[in-house]
Amino acid sequence: MTGSQQKTPVTLNTLRAMHQRGEKIACLTTYDASFTRVLESAGVEMFIIGDSLGMVLMGYESTVPVTLPDMLHYAANVARAGRSAWRIVDLPYGSYENPDQALANARRLVNEGGAHMVKLEGGADKVAIVEHLVSHGISVCGHIGLLPQSVEKYGGYKVQGRDAAGAAAILADALALQQAGVEMLVVECVPADLTAQVTAAVDVPVIGIGAGAACDGQVLVLYDMLGITTGHLPRFVKNFLQENGGIHTAVAAYVNAVKDGSYPAAEHSY
Ligand code: KIV
Repeated sequence: MTGSQQKTPVTLNTLRAMHQRGEKIACLTTYDASFTRVLESAGVEMFIIGDSLGMVLMGYESTVPVTLPDMLHYAANVARAGRSAWRIVDLPYGSYENPDQALANARRLVNEGGAHMVKLEGGADKVAIVEHLVSHGISVCGHIGLLPQSVEKYGGYKVQGRDAAGAAAILADALALQQAGVEMLVVECVPADLTAQVTAAVDVPVIGIGAGAACDGQVLVLYDMLGITTGHLPRFVKNFLQENGGIHTAVAAYVNAVKDGSYPAAEHSY
């Protein structure tokens, strides 16, 4: 079945089966009902309702000011319109400082925001939180590599894992999160050869953003791939609207490019 014919709801089992047969998962961010409908009809199988919404919708300089009520508002928009794609919703900055707080907030994302899975940033330091969520029936996606909620710590949006120690730490984070029970991983802004090692080392699907072609799927911020975002864009972003003339066609071209492995190309990787 091609992406554009996809109508049956995508479940974790669907995604696991795609992963096992080596079919790439096409994911985009979405934050509202209209784009959600267009994206699903163009074949997108998985959404991240990401805290990137703070930057692309709310005008913040980073994702740090985004609150749980912000995430609930936008996630609910998507849940009301969504029919088929798997929905991952970000736990925003400061909402998962300890296991009990994380569980209370993750439950709200599921109950009020329609999340199928929640995503949190961090590695080995988040094991206790992931274990607590998983033991209470919440599906968790880890997010390693560049962690936008910690951008102040890095002094900017920089590629992570370029040196041996950094690469080893990212690999160790992936393994620790898998051991803790995550069912998916997002890897952001790391060299393509490191992503290949991570993808080979874990059994769960690895979704890349600026992480090269070896991942099991790709995600981009919707507004970046439609060329709406102004200012400096990282090298991994490709404007699919420019070549395709319409939003539906641009998204379908993205889905096809992820599926056939032509995106990301070498020029989009580190
Ligand atoms: O916030 C976000 O949109 C994200 C992804 C694009 C990975 O976390």
